Amino acid sequence: MEKFIINGGIPLHGTVAVGGAKNVALKTFVAALLTDEPVVIHNVPLIRDVTYMMDVLRSLGATIEISDHTVRIQNSTSVTTTVPLEVGARLRTSSMVIGPLLARYGEANIPNPGGCRIGARPIDRHIEGLKEMGAEIIYNHDDGYFHATSSGLHGTTYRFPKNTHTGTETLLLAAVLAQGETILENAAEEIEIDDLIKLLQSMGADIARISARTIKIHGVKKLHGTEFTIMPDRNVEVTFALAAAITAGKITVQNSQRHNIRSFLSALGSAGGVTGEVDEHTTTYSGNGNYKLTSIVTAPDPGFMTDWQAPWAVFMTQASGRSAIHETVFESRFSYVSELKKMGAEIEFFDPPVEDPEAFYNFNWNDHPDGYHQGIKILGPTILHNAILEIDDLRAGATLVLAALAAKGESYVHGVEILDRGYENFEKSLKNLGANIERVKEEV
Ligand code: EPZ
Repeated sequence: MEKFIINGGIPLHGTVAVGGAKNVALKTFVAALLTDEPVVIHNVPLIRDVTYMMDVLRSLGATIEISDHTVRIQNSTSVTTTVPLEVGARLRTSSMVIGPLLARYGEANIPNPGGCRIGARPIDRHIEGLKEMGAEIIYNHDDGYFHATSSGLHGTTYRFPKNTHTGTETLLLAAVLAQGETILENAAEEIEIDDLIKLLQSMGADIARISARTIKIHGVKKLHGTEFTIMPDRNVEVTFALAAAITAGKITVQNSQRHNIRSFLSALGSAGGVTGEVDEHTTTYSGNGNYKLTSIVTAPDPGFMTDWQAPWAVFMTQASGRSAIHETVFESRFSYVSELKKMGAEIEFFDPPVEDPEAFYNFNWNDHPDGYHQGIKILGPTILHNAILEIDDLRAGATLVLAALAAKGESYVHGVEILDRGYENFEKSLKNLGANIERVKEEV
């Protein structure tokens, strides 16, 4: 176990290059199961979730070679179709292999990915879609596995009841080899899905997004190997953009993608954050420390992404007035609030008035824990002070680091191995920007 020791209050200045998107990398490995030919992926972020996903593929028989940020995946001809529990249970994306395994081998046994810190996160929308394509899927409560078989997936027209990012991807990964045409309606719009579509097209898939929320796939007999470069990670760019604003510094972000974070840039501008367009792929972010309260409501793309609300909360502790954050995608994504309150943040929970919660929220309302609130109100500006902090989910973890960077004094941040799941060399990048941050082993 390791922790960060951070001495905050230093405005961050310098340049950071954003790496490949975690939420694309993980799915490119799932897509590699669709062919017996080698698949080479470039710009793979060297993060723990990627290592976990490689273990899932190896457990199914694949051979994987890594060189710098390039990964070469070669499927075995004798793939096993059962993901071992200890390998699958470590990350939710492991459940997505059900699509390619059913499409190619007519069988898949995957552990229930289950919930995590941010919610129940079931995969009912994935399962229903696969059943519409002809899969038989039962959930065995004794072994905690979904057992799926199919005598050959066939195309269908499936309308998602609600938005699901990986649900859309799981069905794409099955439909590309299914018999006939599949139309996915009310499909998710997250741009990472379009990167996966590009990869599948480069493997020979007949697939296209024919409107904002409709994707059409014609199944083909076989897919071939490919070489592909992953897009940059939007969440990492937003994290560093807010690091600049929160510390009143100036950070130049390379591999920037302003077009894909417009809802964030609009809110940042309203709050008084400054965005400089250096060129198409380079952006400077800065702030003078005087910020206006800017309330946000999270939503699936193209809305203000749920992954950005935690660092946004830290930013709003530095704004004048009372701002609000309404989280509508996950039912339990405010775990960081108690930690920020240790630093002096003035945050209270509230229940935003919603007429029909089941229709309004992206999660299933019956997953909503009693007494849990979907809104927080933040009163600023607050001078945050140092504290001993505990990370328990990836994006909240980055948030606590940002808060410690803004706070006066020395803070300890425990549980940094959770950060390693989604951020490559996070503390090194921050050190290069002038942060006083050390990573040390926890005393046993
Ligand atoms: C993906 O999660 C991302 N993860 C998340 O990023 C991201 O926050 C989320 O999309 C929203 O953009 C990956 O891509 C690996 P959903 P996903 O299916 O696909 C409920 C990060 O930090 N739901 O769009 O799991 C679900 O519980 C992670 O990188 C069902 O009820 O999100 C959630 O409340 C965090 N049944 C909501 O819908 C289903 O079958 C949205 O889920 C599917 C989803």
